[in-house]
Amino acid sequence: MSKEPVIETERLILRPITLDDAEACFSWNSDERVTKYLGYSTCSDISQTIDWINSTFGDEEEWNWVFVLKEENKVIGAGSIGPSTQMKDYWSIGYNLHYDYWHKGYCTEAMKAIIEYGYRKLGIKKICSDHAVDNPRSGKVMEKCGLKFDHYGEFTKLDGSQTFKAKFYTMELE
Ligand SMILES: CC(C)(COP(=O)(O)OP(=O)(O)OC[C@H]1O[C@@H](n2cnc3c(N)ncnc32)[C@H](O)[C@@H]1OP(=O)(O)O)[C@@H](O)C(=O)NCCC(=O)NCCS
Repeated sequence: MSKEPVIETERLILRPITLDDAEACFSWNSDERVTKYLGYSTCSDISQTIDWINSTFGDEEEWNWVFVLKEENKVIGAGSIGPSTQMKDYWSIGYNLHYDYWHKGYCTEAMKAIIEYGYRKLGIKKICSDHAVDNPRSGKVMEKCGLKFDHYGEFTKLDGSQTFKAKFYTMELE
């Protein structure tokens, strides 16, 4: 059984990811408009998405949800919170959304709920995230969730193919 609970927001249901979500996740994991500035590479085969979903099951510390749009009963994105590998004592948030559902506020709505859950139930007070400077849309989500710009740095795609200059954001809750 998954550790992630179901969380309801105004327009979304956030629920634990399952292998049945592979097709939906592949629809954006395979879309370069979505993956261009992500750590992982663009998936060319659904088996890569299945491997990624399977890898989340074994991760005790990272919490992963898919975002189901209530109106269409459709999985339109995914988000996570887990210990940061870059900033000690911080928890990092991550998210992505199917391209057809950008510009509607869904990601911010979901991530606010995940941060709230992390704070209330997991006692997470220090949150961070980072985005490639050429991907400012992601920074807007961070700002709307209450994170503030902290410093510049860089990150490299997991396959080593590209390194991006990045903006790092942080937030400390009381
Ligand atoms: C990052 C990403 C999820 C942001 O998507 P997004 O649609 O810009 O973000 P939100 O869902 O929060 O939507 C915010 C936008 O919806 C608009 N909006 C429309 N209706 C809205 C509503 N009812 N409520 C709130 N906002 C609404 C906002 O004005 C805002 O538009 P703007 O950015 O043009 O000002 C998306 O660009 C993405 O998946 N990118 C690729 C993956 C990625 O970069 N992940 C992060 C890596 S660091």
